[in-house]
Parts: sequence; C-alpha cells; structure tokens
Amino acid sequence: MKKAEIFIDGKKSFDLPIIIDTMGNQSVDIRNLRQQTGMITYDPGFGNTGSCQSQITYLDGEKGILRYRGYAIEDLVEHCDFIEVAYLLIHGYLPNKHERERYAELLNRHSLLHADMQSFFRRYPDHSHPMSILAAMVVSLSSFYEINLEEDPELQIDLTVTRLMSKMRTIAAFTYRKMKGTDFINPSYKYSYCANFLNMMFSSPVVPYEPNPTQIRAMNKLLILHADHEQNCSTTAVRLIGSAGGNLYSAVSGGICALWGPRHGGANQAVIEMLQQIHTDGSDVKQAIERAKDKNDPYRLMGFGHRVYKTYDPRAKIAREVCEEVLQDMGQRDPLLDIAEELEQAALSDDYFKEKNLYPNVDFYTGIIFRAMGIPTNMYTVMFALGRLPGWIAHWLEWHHDPFERIGRPRQLYMGPTSRVVPPIEERE
Ligand code: ACO
Repeated sequence: MKKAEIFIDGKKSFDLPIIIDTMGNQSVDIRNLRQQTGMITYDPGFGNTGSCQSQITYLDGEKGILRYRGYAIEDLVEHCDFIEVAYLLIHGYLPNKHERERYAELLNRHSLLHADMQSFFRRYPDHSHPMSILAAMVVSLSSFYEINLEEDPELQIDLTVTRLMSKMRTIAAFTYRKMKGTDFINPSYKYSYCANFLNMMFSSPVVPYEPNPTQIRAMNKLLILHADHEQNCSTTAVRLIGSAGGNLYSAVSGGICALWGPRHGGANQAVIEMLQQIHTDGSDVKQAIERAKDKNDPYRLMGFGHRVYKTYDPRAKIAREVCEEVLQDMGQRDPLLDIAEELEQAALSDDYFKEKNLYPNVDFYTGIIFRAMGIPTNMYTVMFALGRLPGWIAHWLEWHHDPFERIGRPRQLYMGPTSRVVPPIEERE
C-alpha cells in the first residue's frame, strides 16, 4: 500500500495510507491522524476534504467532465429522459424498457397529496418564498406518510423514495398555484413526469392547455443537468442529516434549505435579477464587469465561478443550447439572453476572470429558459431542487448502506478566550 509520510517539527515522522480512487486520484487517509499525532487538519470550506467514498458522480473540474454512474452528462441528456436518469442515480444502473415503464407507473400512482396537506398551502402568506413552502411541505411528508421501519425496512425505504420523487413534483406545482391564487390541478395518468408537472403548473379550466413538446424536452434536459453534483453544499447537508439517522424527508428538506442560498442553487434567481438590473440600467455590461472586479463592492457576477470547475461548466454549455432551442421554438428573442451573451464574452476576455478561472456555471443560462417557459423567477430554485432530488436520494441511500457510516461531526480550531470566571452582574460593563 502507498503511504504518505509527515514530519512534525522536522523530527518525528508518521505514515499515513494513500487511497487511490477508480480514476487514479490519490488521497491521504487521515482517519488516524489525531490518534497518532494529537493534531487535526484545518480546511474551512472543505476544499481539500474527502468526506466519503462514493460511486455516484465523477467530476473533473479542470477538464470540465461530469459523469453520473460513469455515463457522460452529454450522453445522458441526448439519450435519456429525467426519469431514466433518476433511476440510474438511485438504483445504480439504467432501467430497461420494462423497468422504465414500471417506474413511470409507480411515480404516477404515488403522485397525489393527502387532502390535509393541500389545506396547508392555503395558509401561507401570498408573499412566501416557494423554497420555504417546499422545504416545509417536504418535511411534513414524514407526518402524513409514516416510515415504519419495524415492518420491512428496505421496502419502506423504497416506498419513501418513490413517494418523495413523485410528491415533491406535485408540491412544487401546488406552490406555484398557491402563489397565483388559482385552484390546484391534480397530477394525471395521461402525462409523463415533466409534462405532468407543466400541466399541473399551467393548465386552466377555461383555456385549453397542452404541454409543449420542446418545453417538455427542455425540462427533461434541465432536470438531468441538475440531477447530481457529488459533494456540493446541499448534498453534504443531506448526508450530514442522514448521518445523524434523520429520515429521507427530513434530510431532503435540509438539502432544500441549503440549496436556497444565492451562492448555491439560489444563484439562478440571482442571475436573472442581475440581468434585469443591467437591462434596466441601460445594458451597460462593462459597468457590471468593473463592479464584479472591485474588492470594495460585494457585487459578484452571478452564475460565474465554481468551487470545483476551473474551466467551462459542461452543464452551462448544454443549458445555453437548450436556451437557444426553446427561444427559437417560441419565435422569441429575450433581451436578457443578449445581455448574458455579451457579459460572458466580456468576462471571458477579461484578465481578472481569466486569472481566477471564472467561467459561466449551470445557473447562468437556466433562468432565461425558465423565464421563457413562464416560470416565475422565485420558482427557479424550486426547479433546481426538483432536478437535484434523485441525487440527494442517491447520496442518502449510499450513506445508509455504507459499512463505514458514522455521524458527521467535524472538529474546530478554538480561537476564543481560554478560561474566565463569571463576574457578579453589578460588576459587568
Ligand atoms: N464574480 C466576481 N468574482 C468572483 C466570482 C464572481 N462570480 N466568483 C469568485 N470570484 C473571486 C472571489 O472574489 C475570489 O477573489 P480573491 O481570490 O481575489 O479573493 C476568487 O474569485 C475565489 O472566489 P471564492 O469565493 O473564494 O471561491 P469559492 O470556491 O469559495 O466560491 C462560488 C465559489 C461561491 C460559486 C463563487 O464563485 C460565487 O460566489 N459565484 C457567484 C454565485 C454563483 O453563481 N453560485 C452558483 C454556483 S453553482 C451551484 O451551486 C449550482
């Protein structure tokens, strides 16, 4: 076995095992470091920390490679729909025709929401953010669809996975209907997964509606692009909650909360708001670039930069193509797309962005597609969550079946006061 040797103060040395992953990347195994040396490692933001061994997603940020279970994202987007990719992530292999049909049927069967849950929606204030409703509704599923692990644990987990995959789509659509103040439209056996969602969102009792095939295809592709991204912030939250023994609904609800932030999934909403602001201010792309470079200005180019990708995000490339397809199909040209393209060109030829390897990420173009489909800005991160769901589930399951599973509990470097005595209240300043 390969080993790394560390010297402390140039004197004592310790051997640490090196683990080589299936792609040939090496990691120093520090699990016994504290026991051997009394020391821990310091890695805020976990940029150099491997928190688990995983077989789900491979990501090479330097080369711009993304694969789910070994299949390239470009291949999956071209040849599969979202349901097949969800199945792949959750079960580890692509379904055959029979399995795919059975899975679609199962998802249809479990798509309704308990009537009492429907009444929850009506109590939310009109200005609620859809992500807060989504997180609350998903954790509420634990109350309405009890997980009885005493019976047959594996069967119960399967049922929970299916319910979550199916009902979260219904919850997402109902959240939109609540915001609009219109009646809920229940899911229908007539439609596929994405068409069903669009129908629940946009159909009306007075105007005939039929989901548009280009938009169905676009939604499938977008959900696939978002379906997993290994140990990102929200997936890490899901795994951590799972590591404490938290059930799947609670772990996914935690993942939704983590995703909401503008530095993570909330960036798709922030991108459109940024593009709209640039448009309102006279489309001055140069000014936006200068502000993003100014260290005294908190302004960042939203949809740019990534912790792992140091080249063009492969998902952004596909999202840009989907964006063109959808707008072309609708016979539209969105001024925000023109600004986005100009912004991308300006950033990619600017030294600041070049030196820091800042490229468009997945969120840069997706908002323009959602906007063209009639999805309101504050629902964009909900769309991201729908896509990410199978990834979260796959990671929760992987943790659940991991023989090394332990509760996630990092250490810290304590920098506070050493030891103090509580003074009487009269003597405190
Ligand atoms: N605009 C301007 N400067 C940037 C940007 C940006 N979008 N992103 C990073 N930088 C700069 C930082 O100011 C920093 O500069 P410095 O080294 O001079 O201090 C350097 O690049 C490194 O940035 P960090 O924030 O340290 O990089 P980190 O890996 O921690 O953050 C993140 C990555 C959060 C994605 C960051 O690039 C960002 O805030 N981007 C905008 C938000 C966004 O698009 N998020 C979506 C990410 S994809 C996803 O989650 C689905």
